[in-house]
Amino acid sequence: MPILDAPMLILGVETSCDETGLALYEAGTAGRPGTLLAHAVHSQVAMHETYGGVVPELASRDHVRRLVPLSRQVLEIAGRGIGDIGAIAYTEGPGLAGALLAGAAFAHGLAQALAVPAIGIHHLEGHLLSPLLSARAPRFPFVALLVSGGHTQLMRVQQVGRYELLGETQDDAAGEAFDKTAQLLGLGYPGGPALSALAESGQPKRCRLPRPMITSGDLEFSFSGLKTAVLTLLKKEPRPEKQDLAREFVDAVVEVLAAKCALAMERTGLTQLVVAGGVGANRQLRAALNAQAAETGFDVFYPEPELCTDNGAMIAFAAALRLQAGHAVPASGHAFGVRPRWELASI
Ligand code: KG4
Ligand code: ZN
Repeated sequence: MPILDAPMLILGVETSCDETGLALYEAGTAGRPGTLLAHAVHSQVAMHETYGGVVPELASRDHVRRLVPLSRQVLEIAGRGIGDIGAIAYTEGPGLAGALLAGAAFAHGLAQALAVPAIGIHHLEGHLLSPLLSARAPRFPFVALLVSGGHTQLMRVQQVGRYELLGETQDDAAGEAFDKTAQLLGLGYPGGPALSALAESGQPKRCRLPRPMITSGDLEFSFSGLKTAVLTLLKKEPRPEKQDLAREFVDAVVEVLAAKCALAMERTGLTQLVVAGGVGANRQLRAALNAQAAETGFDVFYPEPELCTDNGAMIAFAAALRLQAGHAVPASGHAFGVRPRWELASI
């Protein structure tokens, strides 16, 4: 039984790491698409840059500062009043405990004041459903590659709420490998985009890095050895040019991700691949996956570039799909907790 019998305005709140994301999504009734009316993100990157990584306590405090102004901003962009909000969706986990609590407390406080439900959403569910917000969207079932700063996973997505883990990283996430290698090359934090840009000017095969687990025959990944291999090359004489090293690093990560995606498509027999998470914005990865897709005959889908990294739109949207699919809304009452560690396949 669908729960939505009238369109509903959902406020989405994302605070799991170092971006405060707010959005307003108007969910249609079951079977009808909805509309993303507004979204706004404040990135804390500049604040954490000095420390070379996210400082959790600073992150939590900054979320608290940004939540109200950003909510006002999205209401203004959408031309709606606070009383129009019908539900508040927030990231319940996984993520930094204090950062999650800032968003959860805000969502539940506002929900109580407005007498509307607060809906806890899994951050990765938000990411992997976000390509459905694009004009060219996949249909269920599909394979999803989640590649972010904290996760590298291949999932089989049967329908909203039915996710099967096919394989994941045994150690560092792909984004983490990008960030750590960028740091070794003196590119600042987070280094993914800068490292990718530097690689553009590098020559292929000027130095050699491993392709971890590329022939393991399963869908598992391992990226922690790459940064060590980069460090070894940096200590070698003659030292490779930075741009050539960047090129080899990007080629190594991209080759592994593309090979595992191809294997996942083959194993599942599915014909659509969805790529989500911050590393999904990577130009070289997109080029490799598009080539692979054309060659082997599957379709590949990406979220809009601005929805690749953390944002509130994907959280509001995941809640809308859950409501449309008839998933239960949490009972009223506003006791709440967060789940800093939370397996997507368990929801
Ligand atoms: O999904 P996301 O915004 O946050 C997490 O939930 O982790 O992903 C952030 C990660 C960072 O590691 C960042 O360096 C990486 O995504 N990233 C990229 C690119 N854009 C963001 N990595 C490689 N190439 C990019 N263009
Ligand atoms: Zn994320």
